[in-house]
Amino acid sequence: MIIILSSIPTLLPLSLLLLLLLAATTTVTTAVESTNLINQTCMTSSISDPNINYNFCINAFQTAPSSLNANLTRLGLISINLVKHNVNSTTFLVQTLLENNKVDNCTKSGLEDCLQLYSNSMFTIREVARDYRARRLNGANVKLSSVMEASTTCEDGFKDVGVGSPLTKHNNDTFQLSAIALSIICMLY
Ligand SMILES: *[C@@H]1O[C@H](CO)[C@@H](O)[C@H](O)[C@H]1NC(C)=O
Ligand SMILES: *[C@@H]1O[C@H](CO)[C@@H](O)[C@H](O)[C@H]1NC(C)=O
Ligand SMILES: *[C@@H]1O[C@H](CO)[C@@H](O)[C@H](O)[C@H]1NC(C)=O
Ligand SMILES: *[C@@H]1O[C@H](CO)[C@@H](O)[C@H](O)[C@H]1NC(C)=O
Ligand SMILES: *[C@@H]1O[C@H](CO)[C@@H](O)[C@H](O)[C@H]1NC(C)=O
Repeated sequence: MIIILSSIPTLLPLSLLLLLLLAATTTVTTAVESTNLINQTCMTSSISDPNINYNFCINAFQTAPSSLNANLTRLGLISINLVKHNVNSTTFLVQTLLENNKVDNCTKSGLEDCLQLYSNSMFTIREVARDYRARRLNGANVKLSSVMEASTTCEDGFKDVGVGSPLTKHNNDTFQLSAIALSIICMLY
């Protein structure tokens, strides 16, 4: 009696565990079947680079409908365009914030540095796309790294003078999108 009673609580969780394992296996199988190149690419990128968040990567490509049927080479160009789009929108945001004239002097000084950095990045990212199209992967790699670095330099500029950055999200996005593009370039070597 005692043995049976005590074996019930251990048997129940065990069978539950088996059921859960079975369910998990089924889920994994279904997921693998529907895995496409975006999933694979984002998975590989996020594993090889801790700066890349898998969901961020998936969401980023979802904003570009053409990525759905793209091969890896095309995905690389799409990711470069996503960087370009973000660099452009950041430049506009900085200009708007500066024009509003509602920021304190330290923030203003940081924004002015960022404007310079992002204006350079706008120029550089066009060259990245040109290099990439011509399969000059080394050139694209080096230039993309400088765009990525500019986003952290911009962010650090506010930290250095002890004011909050109004560009954290934009800098973070530029950084991650560049990391995704760099990761794809490395896959193509
Ligand atoms: C891969 O992407 C497809 C569609 O984008 C989605 O339905 C599927 O769940 C994803 N698979 C994994 C493993 O994330
Ligand atoms: C990838 O797709 C592009 C069109 O988007 C095509 O021009 C190119 O040949 C394809 N590359 C490979 C390796 O299939
Ligand atoms: C940059 O952003 C502005 C404002 O959002 C837009 O009008 C312009 O077309 C964009 N340029 C590029 C190259 O994306
Ligand atoms: C901010 O800088 C301007 C000159 O650029 C100066 O006239 C003003 O006094 C400064 N404001 C503060 C609060 O230091
Ligand atoms: C970007 O933001 C995400 C989530 O908000 C964070 O986990 C990640 O560390 C940030 N990356 C950088 C480079 O700041």
